Amino acid sequence: MSKSIIVTGASRGIGRATTLQLLKLNSNVTAVARSSEDLKNLKTHVENVLGVKGRLETVTGDITEEPVVEEVVKRCVERWGGIDGIIANAGSKAALHMLIKCIAVEEPDIISVSILPGVVDTDMQVNIRENGLKAEMKQTDYQNYINRYESKTLVHPDDPSRVMAALVVGGATREMSGESFRFNDPKFAHLLKKE
Ligand SMILES: NC(=O)c1ccc[n+]([C@@H]2O[C@H](COP(=O)([O-])OP(=O)(O)OC[C@H]3O[C@@H](n4cnc5c(N)ncnc54)[C@H](OP(=O)(O)O)[C@@H]3O)[C@@H](O)[C@H]2O)c1
Repeated sequence: MSKSIIVTGASRGIGRATTLQLLKLNSNVTAVARSSEDLKNLKTHVENVLGVKGRLETVTGDITEEPVVEEVVKRCVERWGGIDGIIANAGSKAALHMLIKCIAVEEPDIISVSILPGVVDTDMQVNIRENGLKAEMKQTDYQNYINRYESKTLVHPDDPSRVMAALVVGGATREMSGESFRFNDPKFAHLLKKE
């Protein structure tokens, strides 16, 4: 049966790749980001390249604003009858790690898992390369990102996205709840095999 999944930060990078993976897994997706143009491009890609129609809803807005959160939830519930899972991709990594731990304790009916995606080839890395030093990033961290880029060892967004999509549609088990895993943990090796 199709799952109904919310993806935050869905217009670019890891969130976009996860949205596409979810649609390939036959899910219905409610996607949110601030740029309406990027969301429009995503929708066009989904319809024209994937050939998928009627399974992607987009909401333009800042997910840190409560009315936007309410609109995303409302849209998902009205359109698909409920929410089966959330890819909380837009946000602070440290805050999300804490959140998934709290959810695991306080909401035992929900399985909450954090996936560490590695250093991924997205606009975020472009921004770090261009502005990392100006933003007073530690020199060693900055150099690490530069080395990853120059040695062509950045992770492709499709890889962590395959894992996250498979987990949110039912692959995550109760024992995983509250835990963080690297996307390339051996237990996910079968998910990283290319189709
Ligand atoms: N790339 C990496 O190496 C890496 C490594 C570890 C963790 N991460 C984490 O993974 C997540 C995604 O990273 P990424 O590399 O895919 O970033 P990205 O390419 O910069 O994409 C970020 C996405 O989030 C959206 N977004 C940002 N703030 C938002 C907000 N307040 N409300 C709604 N949408 C918002 C952006 O669209 P709009 O600007 O249009 O809103 C875009 O779709 C981030 O939380 C990042 O910290 C990334």
